[in-house]
Amino acid sequence: MMEFYNSTIYDCVVMELPKIKNRAGNITPIHGKKNVPFDIERVYYLYDIPGGETRGGHAHKGLYQLIIAASGSFDVLLDDGINKKVVNLNRPYYGLLVIPGIWRELLNFSSGAICMVLTNLKYDPDDYLREYDDFKLKKKNKLEL
Ligand code: TYD
Repeated sequence: MMEFYNSTIYDCVVMELPKIKNRAGNITPIHGKKNVPFDIERVYYLYDIPGGETRGGHAHKGLYQLIIAASGSFDVLLDDGINKKVVNLNRPYYGLLVIPGIWRELLNFSSGAICMVLTNLKYDPDDYLREYDDFKLKKKNKLEL
């Protein structure tokens, strides 16, 4: 789990995804290990998000994610315990790679926004760190997860 301790917000990059253009509408295909640097084990999406709501508010021990604004737009606040940055996602052919050891919050959802997330692991509540101070301490002092 070295990724958790060494990861920084600068490792969390926006990746351009393939876009097959068509007069009748576009298609974005995503292949594990090719368009994303992991095997895709799970896909989930957030929708019907009430105005002003914030999601996320946690870090992961071993989870890799590609976060896509499949529809609409939203901001992702990333925090590695030292630095922070905000990434705005507003096109379905861009994905934000978020690696282990990064605190994230999702906010400023537009009306009707769909946040699609591709991940490398099945859902596991033990993979979450939900207390910010605990996250920061573990990251800083490389405490056991
Ligand atoms: P959570 O990851 O905390 O949501 P967010 O970070 O978007 O605010 O998950 C919210 C709830 O949904 C939580 O009770 C766990 C459940 N859940 C699953 O059962 N499976 C999943 O794949 C995900 C992502 C969440």
